[in-house]
Amino acid sequence: MANEKILVLDFGGQYNQLIARRVRDLSVYAEIKAYNTPLSEISSQGYKGIIFTGGPNSVYDESSPHYTSEILSLGIPILGICYGSQLISYMLDGEVSACEKSEYGKINIRLVKESKLFKDIPDQSVVWMSHTDYISKVPNGFSVTAVSDDCPCAAMENEQKKIYAVQFHPEVTHSEYGKNILKNFLYNVCGCSGDWVMDDFIDRTVSQLKEKIGGQKVVLGLSGGVDSSVAAALLSRAVGKQLTCVFVDQGLMRKDEGDFVEKTFTSLFDMRFVRVNCADEFIEKLKGVTDPEQKRTIIGTEFYNVFWNKIREEADGGFFAQGTIYPDRIESGKGDAATIKTHHNQVKMPDDIKFEGIIEPLGDLFKDEVRKVGEKLGIPHELVWRQPFPGPGLGVRILGEITKEKIKILQEADAVFRDEMKNSGEEEHLSQFFAVLPDVRTVGVMGDHRTYDHLIAIRAVTTDDFMTADWARIPYDVLARVSNRLTNEVEHVNRVVYDITSKPPGTVEWE
Ligand code: XMP
Repeated sequence: MANEKILVLDFGGQYNQLIARRVRDLSVYAEIKAYNTPLSEISSQGYKGIIFTGGPNSVYDESSPHYTSEILSLGIPILGICYGSQLISYMLDGEVSACEKSEYGKINIRLVKESKLFKDIPDQSVVWMSHTDYISKVPNGFSVTAVSDDCPCAAMENEQKKIYAVQFHPEVTHSEYGKNILKNFLYNVCGCSGDWVMDDFIDRTVSQLKEKIGGQKVVLGLSGGVDSSVAAALLSRAVGKQLTCVFVDQGLMRKDEGDFVEKTFTSLFDMRFVRVNCADEFIEKLKGVTDPEQKRTIIGTEFYNVFWNKIREEADGGFFAQGTIYPDRIESGKGDAATIKTHHNQVKMPDDIKFEGIIEPLGDLFKDEVRKVGEKLGIPHELVWRQPFPGPGLGVRILGEITKEKIKILQEADAVFRDEMKNSGEEEHLSQFFAVLPDVRTVGVMGDHRTYDHLIAIRAVTTDDFMTADWARIPYDVLARVSNRLTNEVEHVNRVVYDITSKPPGTVEWE
């Protein structure tokens, strides 16, 4: 953990994680806490600064999240963003009113007073606004530092009390100088020196892991995904062969993926690697099953049966490690702050399995930081930048009954499609892309012969968060090459379709 840290106090805004990530990009550690975190917990942490996030509410809504105004007297520098800025005004004796005309999108602001927050920032610049209330009267002791055409207080401050507020969102890239403004807050106002650096993180974490683990053993469930892979590499650096990685290959991974994961971890890292091959058992359990939900349930249940049985065998005191990352642990500021998101990284361990403790070496990192650490630890690029892959694997991409033959066809088709996306450079623009095997055969012609064989669907999407997604506009000539290669190179494929459904109404996966 870094010595300096910033608190992002979450009032339910959609950009709360983005704020913390931007702060960390500026080499200062930031953590997010919900708006109902007690003041005593905040005041005892030695924060260098506090950022109030935006939020969807009006400060006058009965249900809107508030905070005790004592936080403004701790002497810790504060930056309020959007709702957070209005809240500061409301908590003191300012006024917040409904805008006659709400501001949304890119807006020009003008600086009207010199400010530490706007050091080296031009007098006029573009910022991202999204608000329907505004600060109509600044509290006593505050002065307006920026305005826009429709907003008499685009920014205000009380320099003496180190309280700053901006109506716009400096954390989004549409705000031209947003990063500089955040940097000014961290370095000029809070006096940070910037001690959150990934190289330091690795050294620090490795020595903490060494100390915690001592001579004991550690068992880690390795999925081949980014998070567990990076956790494995870190632990390997710390304790070498005291680490056992359990890798369950249920036969539903992409072509050669199981072998690739095994080779990577056995050749590049020092550890005990235990691979459980259970493809045949899975196929047996899935025989005759066509209902998507039933397939998912069987795959999930079987996976954890096999996984926990192996862990049970390996458990011999010591620690259990998981690839949990920071977003899996953040409490939400949106209402019920007590519930922590459950996530596939945080599955419940059966009660009869006993470890001395759980280790989550990436528990403080965002995904992009995990990737940086992974690269520094020498994990191959394709693993570090691996696109998301669903837990049930190809099981949700083979419609109808899953058979060995169908898995093989899909693995081959998927490999060809991925290869072509890589060769064409298209993969750089895509969030996720894969092949699907619908349970459909169609008539075709090959040479002089009639064929009756499988249809392959290809899917490629762009998205920021996978909650919504757009189908990717892959150029026709690239699609033509994909189609040619699939029908020529993959046995039993005689037709190719491209899925042009966005999410919603479609989902990314087909089942
Ligand atoms: P959908 O199909 O819900 O997918 O639009 C959104 C994202 O989630 C992935 N996905 C899963 N990931 N276990 C996972 O770990 C699952 O059961 C699962 N189902 C979908 C999907 O690949 C996409 O990235």
